[in-house]
Amino acid sequence: MPRQELTVLDGHDHSSFATQSCAGCRFNCASLVSRAQKGHGDTFAEVLHRRVSRRGLLKAGVVLSAAALSPALSLDRPGTAEAGELNRPAFWTVNGPVTQGVGLTFQAIRPDTSDTIALAEGYTSQVVILWGDPLFPGVPALDLNAQTAALQERQFGFNADFVLYTPLPLGSGNQSDGLLWVNHEYTDGLMMFPGYDTKNPTKEQVDIELAAHGASIVQIRKNGGPEWAADVTSSFNRRITATTPMTLTGPAAGDEWLKTSADTTGTRVVGMLNNCGGGWTPWGTVLTAEENFNQYFANADGLSAEDPRSKTHARYGMPRAASERLWEKHYDRFDIGKEPNEPFRFGWIVEVDPYDPSSAPVKRTALGRTKHEAATTVVASNGKLVVYLGDDERFDYVYKYVSTAAVTMTDRSANKNLLDEGTLYVAKYDDDGTGQWIPLVFGQGPLTAANGWRNQADVLIRTRQAADAVGATKMDRPEDIEVNPVTGVVYAVMTNNTQRGTDGRPAVDRANPRANNAYGHIIEMMEGAGNHAATTFTWGIFLIAGKPEDESTYFAGFAKDQVSAFAAPDNIAFDSRGNLWIATDGQPSALKWNDGILAVAVDGPQRGQVKQLMSGVSGCEVASLYLTADDATLFASIQHPGEGGSLAQPTSTWPNGLARPGIIAISRIGGGRIGA
Ligand code: FEO
Ligand code: CA
Ligand code: CA
Repeated sequence: MPRQELTVLDGHDHSSFATQSCAGCRFNCASLVSRAQKGHGDTFAEVLHRRVSRRGLLKAGVVLSAAALSPALSLDRPGTAEAGELNRPAFWTVNGPVTQGVGLTFQAIRPDTSDTIALAEGYTSQVVILWGDPLFPGVPALDLNAQTAALQERQFGFNADFVLYTPLPLGSGNQSDGLLWVNHEYTDGLMMFPGYDTKNPTKEQVDIELAAHGASIVQIRKNGGPEWAADVTSSFNRRITATTPMTLTGPAAGDEWLKTSADTTGTRVVGMLNNCGGGWTPWGTVLTAEENFNQYFANADGLSAEDPRSKTHARYGMPRAASERLWEKHYDRFDIGKEPNEPFRFGWIVEVDPYDPSSAPVKRTALGRTKHEAATTVVASNGKLVVYLGDDERFDYVYKYVSTAAVTMTDRSANKNLLDEGTLYVAKYDDDGTGQWIPLVFGQGPLTAANGWRNQADVLIRTRQAADAVGATKMDRPEDIEVNPVTGVVYAVMTNNTQRGTDGRPAVDRANPRANNAYGHIIEMMEGAGNHAATTFTWGIFLIAGKPEDESTYFAGFAKDQVSAFAAPDNIAFDSRGNLWIATDGQPSALKWNDGILAVAVDGPQRGQVKQLMSGVSGCEVASLYLTADDATLFASIQHPGEGGSLAQPTSTWPNGLARPGIIAISRIGGGRIGA
């Protein structure tokens, strides 16, 4: 696009902000105004602070509901036990003075291209668990030449993604003994099978790959020392795979479009696929997000173009002919020509209770069907559960779900319908820095029978088309969304979108301000009246990633010669002080160095000073990160090390000769808070 347009629309001409020549910039880059010309107008952060300082008022309305909650469970991280912790995550419960930026004193590392985990001085890491490691007694160590599906079902799965630590027992706050949850997003036969033939995968190989998908639950503990170790004898250990029986619940369960020849009820599904990001609930269950499920299906052209299902399959990117994986050669359910409804049974948020190994995973249809990334929960000031959801595709949307009933912290089982009965909203970002959550409800707006919508099940199965119809804002690949536990401000990550502004594609807008957005950006959102269940919000741009010397970048106004370059922010997390931690997925192509982890203060004098803590190994992305409640351990997923290579021609040998995805734990040498 023309350079001039970029300059105006991405709002990075500081002088024009200083003179307020661009009215819409007051919210988008208001903090930049603050730093460039302190005292000129309200900054987003200043507005935020005023809201925060009024928290007493906000709090007054919710003290009763907070008091009614059991101190056994935190609203923030599952299981943190202190009664005061109940007040942490919601907007109405700010924990004393805002201290973001305090302690991000580590010396940032330089970008790295080596096949090692590089860390800031004073930090160390260990491997916690790797693909193929046994999860049960009697399972042998991984042997590529003796691998079977039965063994893989009892081993840690492939490509680790969303990682979560949750204490044992539930509600104990135990920071040295708990359950590790890890998603296994997808498989790569070239990195798993010697002599793998991409054109002719065997049934046995497909079965191993099905078993390497899903998730692992494994008990880990510190045995008196600083290191974590898996306990293969734990009765909590569990594998969930692409063949584990699970149920569909909520408004779409039982719908005609969810019925197949193997399940005439439309309520029973075999497995979950491409589980990428996720989250957890206040009652200690895990939410795991099915993302790029289209890649498993084939032959959408087997359905006639007049069939109404064809349009939906196209909107979700179903392959029209053979799939790249070719699983349809061995299983009819992956062939849309034979089982046209099977893809509708994927693309959901799945709830799993890690504390009950016998429980069946549940696909919660009320949260919509998209290429789900995050599922971040917060309890709103009215007690309702709010779930923030990203749909990771170019020009797709940011969503949130609000439960109909309030969370009951005194009785876990009382929350079992909260994710079945509620309202799904999609975000519209207006250019003036305000925004709206538009309900996706059958009968409302354009979602009527007259416009071809059958019922609420139809709206949920075709969530993307419903969002198209109501005019939501098309975003630059929404990935993770997290809530700052100190301020309640919501952070939404757009990883990149190189098609923005190209011919026939949407142009830049205030919320997606850069054409050819190769590096991504992060948006801040403040819900109306500090209520996460609100239907309006205000928003601004926090970071626009890339190399600081690139004038289209923006680091919340912080001096660009003092920040770490980064690209493709994907997964984020907050430490207990409200500092933002960023894991990247795409720096090897965008910046020509490895993906890694960076930290940044979102408030205070260091707001915007991005600092790189860690660099991953060759070919990997850092797919997920999780800080324990004491900030002492930063778990991180090392996904697809050696991507682009093969077993025969490895481009990574991390960690011990064979490239194996897995989980590392980062800590400070000698212990203490990460970043402190
Ligand atoms: Fe699987 Fe959007 O990352
Ligand atoms: Ca991701
Ligand atoms: Ca996250």
